[in-house]
Amino acid sequence: MATDEGDEGDKTGPVLIPFIPFICGQFLVTEQPCAASRYDENVTMKFLVTGGAGFIGSAFVRQILATRADAEVVNLDKLTYAGNLENLTSIAADSRYRFVHGDICDRELVRGLMRDERPDVVVHFAAESHVDRSIHSPGPVIDTNFVGTFSLLDAAREFSIPRFHHVSTDEVYGSIDAPHEADENFPLKTASPYSASKAGSDLLALSYFTTYKMAVTVSRASNNYGPFHFPEKLIPLMISNAMEDKPLPIYGDGMQIRDWLYVDDHCCGIQAVIDKGRAGEIYNIGGNCSLPNVEVVRRILKILGKPESLMKTVTDRPGHDRRYALTSAKLMGETGWAPRMTFDQGLAETVEWYKRNPEWVARVRSGEYRKFYETNYANR
Ligand code: NAD
Ligand code: DAU
Repeated sequence: MATDEGDEGDKTGPVLIPFIPFICGQFLVTEQPCAASRYDENVTMKFLVTGGAGFIGSAFVRQILATRADAEVVNLDKLTYAGNLENLTSIAADSRYRFVHGDICDRELVRGLMRDERPDVVVHFAAESHVDRSIHSPGPVIDTNFVGTFSLLDAAREFSIPRFHHVSTDEVYGSIDAPHEADENFPLKTASPYSASKAGSDLLALSYFTTYKMAVTVSRASNNYGPFHFPEKLIPLMISNAMEDKPLPIYGDGMQIRDWLYVDDHCCGIQAVIDKGRAGEIYNIGGNCSLPNVEVVRRILKILGKPESLMKTVTDRPGHDRRYALTSAKLMGETGWAPRMTFDQGLAETVEWYKRNPEWVARVRSGEYRKFYETNYANR
C-alpha cells in the first residue's frame, strides 16, 4: 500500500485507514426546487431526453413526470449495457411518455426525431459515463460523447429547437489541490478519455450558443449516487459486493476525494437550470459533501454491519484524479436550488434500495457486466 500522495504503487493488500478530517455539510433550503407551481397545466412542455434509461436520465424522467403536470417526455436511448428499461417501469405506462430505441450518433434518426417531435427542450444525458471503461476502450466514448453530442446539436439547430441542455461533469476541471474549488470559469484539465470527451462536448455545445445563438446551457455535476446506479461505479459496487461478502477493491491508497450528490438533487438542479438558467451559461451542481473513497466505503460497511477487512487495495486507476471540488454558488444564487439530501441519509436509503432489489442487481450483473469485471479487476 502506498504512503505518499501520487505514489500508489502496484502492491495489493489490506487497507489501513487513517483518521480523515472531511467536509460534508448541507445548506439550509428555503424553497422547493422541483415544485411545478409556475406551470400552466394546459400548455405542454415536451422534453426530448437522451440516455433516459441510464442511472441519472431515468431519475430525471421519473422526476419530471412526477413534478410537472405540463411535461411530455420522449426518451431516446441506445440501451447499451448501462441502459435499462427496468429503471422506468414505474412510468412506462404514462400516456405522456414515449420510448425511442436508437443511437444519438445516428444523424438521420436524430434529425427525424427533432423534425417530427419538435421538442421544447433537449436534455442530453446519453454518454459512455464510466472512466475505467473509457481507459480500456476509448473509441465508443469519443463516438457517443463527442460525435453524438454534435449530431444532437446540429439537428437541434436545423429545426430551431428552442432550448438545449447539455449534462456534463466536474471531471472536466481535473484534479484540484485543496483548499481550492472550481467555479464555472476554472480552467479545464482532463485526465481520461471520458473527461476529455466531456470537455470537448461542453465546448462544442457552447459554440452553438456563440455562433448560432442557440439557447444552450451546460451543467457540470459532481459524483451522483442513489437507487438504480449501475454497479460498476464506486458506491453501488461496494454495496453489492459487501452484501455478498466479496472483496471491495480500493484503487491505490483510497484517499482520492469526490463530492457526493444525491441523484434526485442533481435532477432538481437540472430542472432549475432549464427553468431559470441563462442561455450560454455553465452551472456547477455539487453535493457539498467531499469525502475520501475509504470513508465512503467505511460508511457503507457500517450500515450493512460488515467488517472493514473486506476492503482490499488494488492497483490504482491510470491517470487517477486525486481530488474533485466545485462550488455551486452560481446555481444557488441565480435559482434558489440547493442539495437537500444529507449524505448519511442518502447513503442509508441507497443501501436499503439495493437490499430490497436483489433481482435488479442480479440481472444487471449478468452477461456483459461479468466480462467487464474480469477485464477491470483480474490481475489488478
Ligand atoms: P449511465 O452510464 O448510467 O447511462 C448512460 C445512458 O446513455 C444509458 O441509458 C445508455 O444506454 C445511454 N447511451 C449510451 N450511449 C448512447 C448512444 N450512443 N445513444 C443513445 N443512448 C446512449 O450514465 P449516468 O451516470 O446516468 O450519466 C448520465 C450523464 O450524466 C452523462 O452525460 C454523464 O457524463 C453525466 N454525469 C454523470 C455523473 C455520475 O456521477 N454518474 C456525474 C456528473 C455528470
Ligand atoms: O465526478 C463526476 C463523475 O463521477 C462522472 O462524470 C462519471 O460519469 C462518474 O462515473 C463518476 O466518475 P468517478 O471516476 O469519480 O466515479 P467511480 O465511481 O468510477 O469512482 C469513484 C472513485 O472511487 C474514484 O476515485 C475511483 C474509486 N474506485 C472506483 C471503483 C469502481 C475505487 O477505488 N474502486 C473501484 O472499484
